[in-house]
Amino acid sequence: MTRTQRTQTTDSATTPLHMIDIIRKKRDGEALDTREIGFVAAGAANGSIPADQLAAWLMAAWIRGLSLDETRALTLAMRDSGEKFSPAQLGKQAVDKHSSGGVGDKTSFLVAPLAAACGVAVPMISGRALGHTGGTLDKLEAIPGYRTALTLAEFEAVLKRCGASIVSQTPELVPADRVLYALRDRTATVENPGLICASILSKKLAAGLNALVLDVKTGSGAFLRKMEDCEFLAALMVATAEAAGTRTVALLTDMSQPLGRAAGNWIEVAECVELLRGQTPPRSPESNFDLRELSLILAGWMIHLGGKAKSPQEGYSLAEAALADGAALAVFMKMVDAQGGDVSVFDDLAAFHKPGATQVVEAWESGFVAEMDTTALGWAVQRTGAGREKAGEPVDPHAGILFHARRGAEVKRGEPLATIYATRAELLAEPAAILRRAIRVSKTPPHAVPLVGKVFTRADAEEYLSSK
Ligand code: URA
Repeated sequence: MTRTQRTQTTDSATTPLHMIDIIRKKRDGEALDTREIGFVAAGAANGSIPADQLAAWLMAAWIRGLSLDETRALTLAMRDSGEKFSPAQLGKQAVDKHSSGGVGDKTSFLVAPLAAACGVAVPMISGRALGHTGGTLDKLEAIPGYRTALTLAEFEAVLKRCGASIVSQTPELVPADRVLYALRDRTATVENPGLICASILSKKLAAGLNALVLDVKTGSGAFLRKMEDCEFLAALMVATAEAAGTRTVALLTDMSQPLGRAAGNWIEVAECVELLRGQTPPRSPESNFDLRELSLILAGWMIHLGGKAKSPQEGYSLAEAALADGAALAVFMKMVDAQGGDVSVFDDLAAFHKPGATQVVEAWESGFVAEMDTTALGWAVQRTGAGREKAGEPVDPHAGILFHARRGAEVKRGEPLATIYATRAELLAEPAAILRRAIRVSKTPPHAVPLVGKVFTRADAEEYLSSK
């Protein structure tokens, strides 16, 4: 991972550029300049660079790393690869949240309506499943009729009507990320700080946000496993977004187990609707209290940065009130309806859930759920049919895994640990085998891991990066 490499200048701003030269340069560890990076992003967006060359460049960038200057240039070039949204006409501060990727990570369905119910606009451009992690768009599309690919005019109309809208990259909106994101997913080039930063921030900056809250995952289910790499990613993203004019904070949060109970598509949406309906879980290792808590913390920051609360703590209280009085639920339902979704499926959450095959995995010994290899669990979810094997494949809205016992829970031999929902019976065996390998049951309870660790503001990010 090259953090300090400086950008070189090319001979002339008019020298013709060739992708083969840019790949070779990156492969050999040389830094690319702004023009070369812009060439790659534009070529990805307009289709002039073929997928094989983009894939080769991604692998070279993954192995050699991107410098701070290269990362910044790639972020801005990807942001500028399509049209941009201007939230000025919404008459509200536009604030969003984005996660670096996790398993069962569904806070978007909670924070967007919570923050919108408290008076900030949430124009959220999201992604699909990436690597072992699920995708916000795939989960939303489990709702029959929900349209993620809106035009800019439709995006604006939904935001005016509901305060929040969750949409995809399109050929118009951040097209470079649309192409590179899908290619990274197929070429094992996801886990790189510069590429993650450019992918996330290109979408966020194209939405014209006033402020942004980043949820940087740490632990066994995060793309970057080492804490120092997570801190670097947090600092890199905060500094890059701030330099582009968006007030940003990053929270390091725990992904040493799936967030909440459900990991899949419909089952994640249903879990959020239950929470929005005020079905408050108990604070226990078996419950999904962590999902509620993290969503309120993230929404609290969004509300604070959006100028509706003096502190993140006050924002948390406002978000909690919007959860309790049903205001956030109302925003969510309105948004789903405005984007074409059939809200009648929420009448009976269980009745709508029709998996092809189901298997309960029982605890193989008594003890405490000690460790979870959450990345492996993410792959187990993907193998149920909830994720893709090949680009462009449809995903099964009903597939996924429901976790009954979470880290720290005491289980007895034979008690259910998880329920697997697969597309077909033949798809049950592999996730079941992965689950058995990925969950360790021990005689002693594990150390508790805090849900939220360090918070990086602009000053923290600058100090961190200058010390590297
Ligand atoms: N989310 C994104 O949008 N891109 C990444 O690379 C990782 C998480």
